[in-house]
Amino acid sequence: MTVRRLTIPDAAAWRVLMIDGYTQHPDAFTTSAHERAGLPVSWWAARLAPDAPAGEVLFGAFGGETLAGVAGLSFERREKAQHKALLFGMHVAADFRGRGMGRELVEAVVTHARGLPQLRVVQLTVSQGNHAAEALYTRCGFAPFGVEPFAVAVGGTFVSKIHMWLDLRTPRRE
Ligand SMILES: CC(C)(COP(=O)(O)OP(=O)(O)OC[C@H]1O[C@@H](n2cnc3c(N)ncnc32)[C@H](O)[C@@H]1OP(=O)(O)O)[C@@H](O)C(=O)NCCC(=O)NCCS
Repeated sequence: MTVRRLTIPDAAAWRVLMIDGYTQHPDAFTTSAHERAGLPVSWWAARLAPDAPAGEVLFGAFGGETLAGVAGLSFERREKAQHKALLFGMHVAADFRGRGMGRELVEAVVTHARGLPQLRVVQLTVSQGNHAAEALYTRCGFAPFGVEPFAVAVGGTFVSKIHMWLDLRTPRRE
């Protein structure tokens, strides 16, 4: 397995992986498959450009040549919140789960965050009941700080989101 930053040529594979994630796990993501399916590859590519205006970086985990997992980090533009970043878009393809790929991706995101002097905190949200993802984030040092009721509406029911955070000054976990 290799983990590296995604670049523009990875856009098509990233699109396929995320639409699979949104389709297979509607409870896990705030974005829906329907919202993204109609967007061209160029929309995904623009997000991977080095000077992407969205202010985000993406990391991919590869099994051989295949992009099998992804996680992103997005940055706050507002002056008073620039010490915070958000881990988002975590997805590992079903065939590659349970091999440490998710953990490697979180570590890549956190290592990148630790290298940015303006950052102090990484936050994320995870749907209540998504035990695999919650366990992964806990394993990587994230702690819960609240639960947002009715965070997303999925198929006529509401799903709560657990908010988690990591203080980047805490020592790295082994
Ligand atoms: C959550 C997800 C990313 C985990 O990816 P993964 O590559 O299988 O995870 P790893 O193999 O790296 O596991 C790392 C840790 O996560 C935890 N974990 C992973 N899968 C788990 C499961 N099914 N049950 C319990 N704990 C689990 C374990 O603590 C594990 O550490 P350990 O093996 O040292 O005990 C993957 O299941 C996934 O993509 N799910 C669907 C999409 C999703 O829920 N995304 C998260 C949105 S917030």
